[in-house]
Amino acid sequence: MPFFPPEASSFAGHVDALYVFLILVTAFFSILIGTLVVYFAIKYHRKAPDEIATEVHESGALEIIWTVIPFGLVLVMFAWGASVYFKITRPPANALDIYVTAKQWMWKLQHTDGHREMNELHVPVGVPVRLTMASEDVIHSFYVPAFRFKRDVVPGRFSTAWFEATKPGKYHLFCAEFCGTRHSNMIGWIYAMDPRDYQAWLAGGSPGESLAAAGAKRFVEHACNTCHGDQPGARGPSLAGLFGRQVQLASGQTLVADETYIRESIVNPQAHLVAGYPPIMPTFQGLISEEGLLQLVAYVKSLSPPPAGAPASAAPALTPERKGNRP
Ligand code: CUA
Repeated sequence: MPFFPPEASSFAGHVDALYVFLILVTAFFSILIGTLVVYFAIKYHRKAPDEIATEVHESGALEIIWTVIPFGLVLVMFAWGASVYFKITRPPANALDIYVTAKQWMWKLQHTDGHREMNELHVPVGVPVRLTMASEDVIHSFYVPAFRFKRDVVPGRFSTAWFEATKPGKYHLFCAEFCGTRHSNMIGWIYAMDPRDYQAWLAGGSPGESLAAAGAKRFVEHACNTCHGDQPGARGPSLAGLFGRQVQLASGQTLVADETYIRESIVNPQAHLVAGYPPIMPTFQGLISEEGLLQLVAYVKSLSPPPAGAPASAAPALTPERKGNRP
């Protein structure tokens, strides 16, 4: 059994280098301090029953040294750790979108073109993959040791994470948060494939309805289109081109419309009211499943042009003819 899982993502090497640095610093000081404790205990132990201790006064120079050196070392840990953290938490704009729903006790993974997988995820090597994750019940945690990332999936909000697989292979996916009796069975596999094999995998098997198409249906089902249907004098703002744009709020603030904002606008519409519209939208809290919310978000996203360099479908930059083929 190897000591470390394989390094199979673009940031695995950075995480491991930092981890090794922490172990070496810790080992160095543990050995140094442990050795000195034993050495001084032997050297300065009381040699005769009536021996009187000699008084020793502190050394200023020594105190400065053992304050400044550890302080510098922890600052290195802080700066290094922060830079790795930023790398791990900022998905590139051109990432391939995968939508994840966690529930007791399985992972449901959906590609934007409609491919659905249970406890398995196929991804191309060398392409950043962005996960938008929701939980239908309790807290789960998406953990892929070979990719060196773990992200909690918390009910009532979206969690995002990303990775870029660097080596073709089959890697363990775990749930790393105790979520009930069958938590330890909530495991699966990530298949990182050569882009050509990934294309072949996508082409095989019928993808079914795309997430955005499913979202478009729900949009009508919940009558969202009666207010957000782009008709003149509509009671709600138009959603065309909304995703990724700055939104002017009634409170005077602005924010960028991302997945979290769209989700919140459905379940808690009054939280960030758009300027110029009355607070008339009812909440859909509890009326739409997390999966339904993901579909609606995918639909709203499909109404905006993808960011520069982003894939238009589940086939990033591999099949250019698919670009613009959005529902
Ligand atoms: Cu889900 Cu543990």
